[in-house]
Amino acid sequence: MTQTYAEFYRRSIDDRDAFWTEQAELIDWHKPFEKVLAYANPPFANWFVGGQTNLCHNAIDRHLGSRADQNALVYISTETDTERTYSYSELHREVTRCAAILRGLGVGKGDRVLIYMPMIPEAIFAMLACARLGAIHCVVFGGFAAASLALRIDDARPKVIMTADAGMRAGKVIRYKPLLDEALQLTGSPAQNVVIVDRGLDEGMLRTEGRDLDYATLARQHDSEDVPVTWLESSEPSYIVHTSGTTGKPKGVQRDTGGYAVALAASMRHIYCGSPGDTMFTTSDIGWIVGHSYIVYAPLICGMTTIVYEGVPIRPDPGIWWKIAQDHNVNVMFSSPTGIRVLKKQDPEYISKHDLSSFKHIFLAGEPLDKPTHNWLTDAIGKPVIDHYWQTETGWPILTSAPGVEQTPIKFGSPSFAAYGYDLKLLRESDASEAGVNEKGVVAVIPPLPPGCMTTVWGDDERFVKTYFSTFSTKLVYSTFDWGIRDEEGYYFILGRTDDVINVAGHRLGTREIEEAVQSHSNIAEVAVVGVEDQLKGQMPLAFAVAKNADLISTDESKAAQEKEVLATVDAQLGAIARPRSVHFVSMLPKTRSGKLLRRSIQALAEGRDPGDLSTLEDPAALDQIRLAIGR
Ligand code: PRX
Repeated sequence: MTQTYAEFYRRSIDDRDAFWTEQAELIDWHKPFEKVLAYANPPFANWFVGGQTNLCHNAIDRHLGSRADQNALVYISTETDTERTYSYSELHREVTRCAAILRGLGVGKGDRVLIYMPMIPEAIFAMLACARLGAIHCVVFGGFAAASLALRIDDARPKVIMTADAGMRAGKVIRYKPLLDEALQLTGSPAQNVVIVDRGLDEGMLRTEGRDLDYATLARQHDSEDVPVTWLESSEPSYIVHTSGTTGKPKGVQRDTGGYAVALAASMRHIYCGSPGDTMFTTSDIGWIVGHSYIVYAPLICGMTTIVYEGVPIRPDPGIWWKIAQDHNVNVMFSSPTGIRVLKKQDPEYISKHDLSSFKHIFLAGEPLDKPTHNWLTDAIGKPVIDHYWQTETGWPILTSAPGVEQTPIKFGSPSFAAYGYDLKLLRESDASEAGVNEKGVVAVIPPLPPGCMTTVWGDDERFVKTYFSTFSTKLVYSTFDWGIRDEEGYYFILGRTDDVINVAGHRLGTREIEEAVQSHSNIAEVAVVGVEDQLKGQMPLAFAVAKNADLISTDESKAAQEKEVLATVDAQLGAIARPRSVHFVSMLPKTRSGKLLRRSIQALAEGRDPGDLSTLEDPAALDQIRLAIGR
């Protein structure tokens, strides 16, 4: 009997325990769970209580019987011109060896290991090795600079840090180790062991005697050790990944073990349609949630081959992604709207000359997908392009089409329907009542959150409740901090954030973080950073700053020089991804009489829109300055 998606979804909500018990069969359990869900202390949810499992076992060991020689991981670097493949049995050997190294350094269950690495196989070995030991990994995106890295080190307090001498981007060597050294100085944390994968890209790399260790040397020492899997209770943490919010301090999103494994395995079947033996190509980075879930864990848990790509989409030419897809018979591709917009500007031949018949679908997420890009890619590929919406916090889709259950028609501009397991609502901001058809509301989930979603903020249960479940005083609901709307056919559309988070090329950044970085420049007294529309990247940060010493910005040349310095400060603190498009100097910022920055008005003006309600504005001259600065 074929089931409609609507029926499948309904069952996941109305008959929750039976639904998730079935999904839980998609993974291996060392000890079966006793209870599907413990929810005595809302909004904290424990899934598959009493069950014991392990992510590394599910991603590798359980496949050794049936697919030991199948490729598990294909590493392609167009930066170093390298291609390496690892079968499941080879991956098992590499991961076991890495686990032996970590164990040798005293890492065990519950210890944190921070991974600050480029897209190389060793980064994935490290993640899986942590999972094997029951250690908690904390991967930090390689594009983050010293101050961001230091914050994450302070928060995770890792026993060991794994890094590499350098990464490469568009042919340029990007040194990782000096940034880590700088971050470690900023943290003032006690000397930990740093394990370095030396790629030979930075001959001048400095080492700290006694602290810094060489991965290859350790690998030889631990070559043939056996490292059995450490079984974890389902709710025990697997990893922390930090994400930006409204404050300057990123939150450590904590994830469990059993719920995550089940959620990923189920999503591969019902949403991504990836089968054992298929190949998945996700063009993200392991530093982001998409990389955690859909480069590393989900494809491997499902016995697929995953492609790990180090390189940019347009080198050696703009056909590289499609060439990889063709050469490796990619069945499931997952990318981002910005990546596709970059390729859309190129000669269409770069797509048409490749045979992409192995594709089942291509999935895009991380930022709004504009209709023209959605339309263009669908025509160019000739296969369904599925826009789906989710967050670091959820780890897997919230809104999506689920072609593994039913091929529902795709509407351009819409990420389709609520994913099974999410009791999703659009709520009116005023009173938490449900918005009607075509009426804007906050995208919210009635808890418990389904398996796989964050279980708490690392080390701060109170912040978890306060941040995510306190938007409405009358109802305990999880807020996504996104606005949404639902049309008469039930399709959802995402309309942007309700908070001060911006999305630059699919990278989520807090405007507060950028403001703090700008403000750390010695001549900045005050600053407002807002996100403004960008054709390619979706959004770009734009800064309006008040100088402490106006003499330093008295001429166009000195202003330009100060702007350059400020941008360099952001690069050094946060990384180039957070660099504002420009810094405009003003003598005051628009604020309310109680001193709150009127960011939404600044943003509206910067995008050429009406600044909205200005009744609380303290001094209208401040807005004129913004207008003047941007030439409107
Ligand atoms: O604002 C939404 C936007 O990206 C945010 C989550 O970003 P991040 O935590 O980095 O997770 C990315 C996981 C794919 C959301 O709150 N966003 C994500 N996907 C979409 C989107 N906005 C519109 N359409 C999407 N498909």
